[in-house]
Amino acid sequence: MDTSSKAGSAAFTDILGQRLSRRDFVAAGVYGGAAITGLFALSACDRSDPRNPRAGTQQKLGFQAVPKSMDDLVHVPAGYRAQVLYALGDPIHEGQAAYGNQGAETDFDQRSGDHHDGMYFFGLSAGGSWDPSASEQGILCLNHENTTDAYLHPAGPTRDEEGTRPAGEVRREMQAHGVSVIAIRRNADSSHELDRASPLNRRITLLTPMDLDGPAAGDAMLATKLSEGGTRAYGTLNNCSNGHTPWGTYLTCEENWNTYFHRGADEAQRSAAENTALARYAIAPDSQGDNYRGWDTVAGDLTERFDCSADGASAAADFRNEPNLFGWIVEIDPFDPAAAPRKHTAMGRFSHEGCVPAPLRAGKPVVFYMGDDSRFEYIYKFVSDLPYDPSLRGLAGSAHLANGTLYVARFGADGSGQWLPLRHGENGLTETSEVYPFSSQADVLVHTRLAADAVGATRMDRPEWGAVDPATGEVYFTLTNNSRRTPEDVDAANPRSYTDTFTKADGSTTENKGNVNGHIVRWREQGDDPAATRFHWDVYLFGAEAGAPASVNLSGLTDDNDLSSPDGLWFDPAGLLWIETDDAAYLDHTNCMLLAAVPGTQGDGGAVMVENSSESKVITIRGRKATPDNLRRFLVGPMEAEITGLAMTPDRRALFVNIQHPGENGETAAPSSHWPAASGDATVAGASDRRPRSATIVITREDGGEIAV
Ligand code: FEO
Ligand code: CA
Ligand code: CA
Repeated sequence: MDTSSKAGSAAFTDILGQRLSRRDFVAAGVYGGAAITGLFALSACDRSDPRNPRAGTQQKLGFQAVPKSMDDLVHVPAGYRAQVLYALGDPIHEGQAAYGNQGAETDFDQRSGDHHDGMYFFGLSAGGSWDPSASEQGILCLNHENTTDAYLHPAGPTRDEEGTRPAGEVRREMQAHGVSVIAIRRNADSSHELDRASPLNRRITLLTPMDLDGPAAGDAMLATKLSEGGTRAYGTLNNCSNGHTPWGTYLTCEENWNTYFHRGADEAQRSAAENTALARYAIAPDSQGDNYRGWDTVAGDLTERFDCSADGASAAADFRNEPNLFGWIVEIDPFDPAAAPRKHTAMGRFSHEGCVPAPLRAGKPVVFYMGDDSRFEYIYKFVSDLPYDPSLRGLAGSAHLANGTLYVARFGADGSGQWLPLRHGENGLTETSEVYPFSSQADVLVHTRLAADAVGATRMDRPEWGAVDPATGEVYFTLTNNSRRTPEDVDAANPRSYTDTFTKADGSTTENKGNVNGHIVRWREQGDDPAATRFHWDVYLFGAEAGAPASVNLSGLTDDNDLSSPDGLWFDPAGLLWIETDDAAYLDHTNCMLLAAVPGTQGDGGAVMVENSSESKVITIRGRKATPDNLRRFLVGPMEAEITGLAMTPDRRALFVNIQHPGENGETAAPSSHWPAASGDATVAGASDRRPRSATIVITREDGGEIAV
């Protein structure tokens, strides 16, 4: 190891911080070329940086880049195969009929749900217990974020003359949300299949009873007609990305739960604080959310709760507080089918995208990173009160998540960063706050967004997934895009606002504005301590079209690796970074995709001025530029599908990927995708009479080797 460059590295961090902090980047906005050149030179780190354990032994991407595509099938590199493993409606137990693909099934609590999303692989020993090193068999836990109702029912969603939904359709939609826990095994020919005889196979739906813990559990704000004590919830909703714990449990994250509710004109029946809170979580009076399907038109408490109007005699007589039972991190023990999932109020309530564990440190707190995926929302960190206790296994380990400190991130203009604690009574989080009258820690947690507003966190471009580099501990977060970021309100960590042209199928064009293609921010905690309250950041990668101007294509993307709207993000056991897209801005050139990267380290590029216009200029810290050697497209998906969810066996010979909502804009009688084919080969198009299905696919090498290297 070259210790002289270690000293240089430390100086880099200090010098960069000092140089940048001497100037007021935000106020000045514009810098001369000489200053930029100087900063760039100071901040340039090379791959001999000893902070990078991969220095000198850099991995190589060992596959041919997959071209962009608009086909209705999955493309993988030459030498790979892709098999459909678990698609919408597939049964999870022996003896069930195969899915008919016409929307007729009534037992979705025993079949694959829709919209496969975040996912994790737990290896299984021959005896059926958790073995993190096992690859031949395992448990896949995966989320079912949403449903495409046009394909889920015989004739799409229906209503009677009064607007009432059929109870059977509503039950099917509720059961097709949630989580699957399924046992899978590898066959002698390297194909994979469900083990439908496993007693661990289980569906968790929007009807599954759950417990709440943490400071807000039992609070009056969580009391409803179905949970007068505020300690029980029913089901989990809009489960997007995920996490896992060192004690062998799965974490599922509730994202756009607010969009399912109807709220009446009940402002007068609510306190000023309640009205403020509901407005901040986008549940307006006399309105229905984007995902409202009239579930509350069906009689019964479990359906009527999606009308959250304050129209009863008290909170225990109606569902005014039902929205407060969603928006949490939910923990599931995949090895105990009888255990109720647990919602952790200590980890905050917002549009949770994912929950990413930091590297474990013996005797230290456990740390998780989380994003709130809405425009101008925040990035959070949870630090447990309880030091890591390896004797706790399964849901006993959930004690780590019951109490702790929730922090929100502030990204400084100079590449520094700060974690701001959200503790009642500190940083203005009091009854007298101008933002909201915080009366307790429960109030801070139920209204996390308002607390983060009050402490002055940095408003980001839609935080999606995070991933921690196992070699360096550095944290990566996708900021997928932000149509509302204007040139006037860019900042160093969200520096772009521009216009991009989109060509429609009929040849006409529209313009997308803001941070159209998204970026990936990265940071390193001070002292490499995940619980630190300071960090240093840069922008690892800017999404862009290969032909975009240099002021937009800041990472130098080419046809082998250009991407838009990064969303899924995951490090595999070999330290490759995988990037998935959920995009609308580049669909005139390509379907959504999966890329593999050999990442560098925070600070391996340098300061650069982003020129959005002659009036809008801001300095950011850019990572080293991409090349086809360090970033390469691995997969392109079928029509109108998001690529999401990632898991791999520990031996790196099977990669699991989720294809979500193919043909999402089509109609029951005219699907806009027919993927997947009946044969189960993900790389061929389906017959024209098939409805599209979300699915987990498994990718293997034809020679049985490790993926992507
Ligand atoms: Fe469910 Fe933010 O994607
Ligand atoms: Ca374009
Ligand atoms: Ca997502």
